Amino acid sequence: MISLKSVCKEFQGQRVLDQTSFELNRGEFLYLLGGTGAGKSTLLRLLATEEQPSSGSISLFGYTLDTASKATLQAIRQSIGYVPQEVRLISDFTVLENVALSITTGGRRALPAQAHVRINEILEKLGLGTKRDRLARTLSGGEAQRVAVARALARNPELIIADEPTGAQDKESTWSLMDLFLKANISGVTVILATHDSEIVRRVRKRCALLKNGRMTLEELACIY
Ligand SMILES: Nc1ncnc2c1ncn2[C@@H]1O[C@H](COP(=O)(O)OP(=O)(O)OP(=O)(O)O)[C@@H](O)[C@H]1O
Ligand SMILES: [Mg+2]
Repeated sequence: MISLKSVCKEFQGQRVLDQTSFELNRGEFLYLLGGTGAGKSTLLRLLATEEQPSSGSISLFGYTLDTASKATLQAIRQSIGYVPQEVRLISDFTVLENVALSITTGGRRALPAQAHVRINEILEKLGLGTKRDRLARTLSGGEAQRVAVARALARNPELIIADEPTGAQDKESTWSLMDLFLKANISGVTVILATHDSEIVRRVRKRCALLKNGRMTLEELACIY
């Protein structure tokens, strides 16, 4: 599903990822850990195809990204639900419109009925049912973050890449979010989740990858954080 071979990423001569290699199989759930500035978001942006590595190669769904055609890249992007660390909602669109954009560019009227039901279910689950028609700019930081998660999940992705999606959440919302990620994972979706939240990692035991000094160590078993 994901394969990184000797990936390096440099910014103005500073090497953030140094010969990082790892494989993740379809259906796995992996925590990405590491201190602030360790390179978690950088790695996730590469996986979300938002940026390219300085060297090395990345394959997703069996396709090597640097040789993939535009159409293949488009299809890969459609299969990924990416929750960036910086929430990027369209401020004068409603919550529903922001989520619907993940499925169709034709606005909420172009949404298939099934997608409507699915979006409403996800919004309810995330405690956003009553905020459906609110403009994104009127949301709290935590609410906006949950909308970003709803948007990533609504398209029924095969791979979820979530960058500290619980960073602005209270306990209850954190576990609602985790519940959705775990349910997706049980139904076969591959999940990679960057977090600083040791309670999540302790309570929901999964494999961990630790980024440190540009290098990654991958625990074969569920880790103790
Ligand atoms: N576009 C960029 N230009 C220059 N430097 C960058 C850029 N993006 C990231 N960096 C640098 O790369 C390093 C890793 O940043 P990154 O955001 O990946 O860390 P992180 O592990 O996600 O940290 P945090 O836990 O704080 O989110 C940092 O030193 C950062 O300043
Ligand atoms: Mg980050």
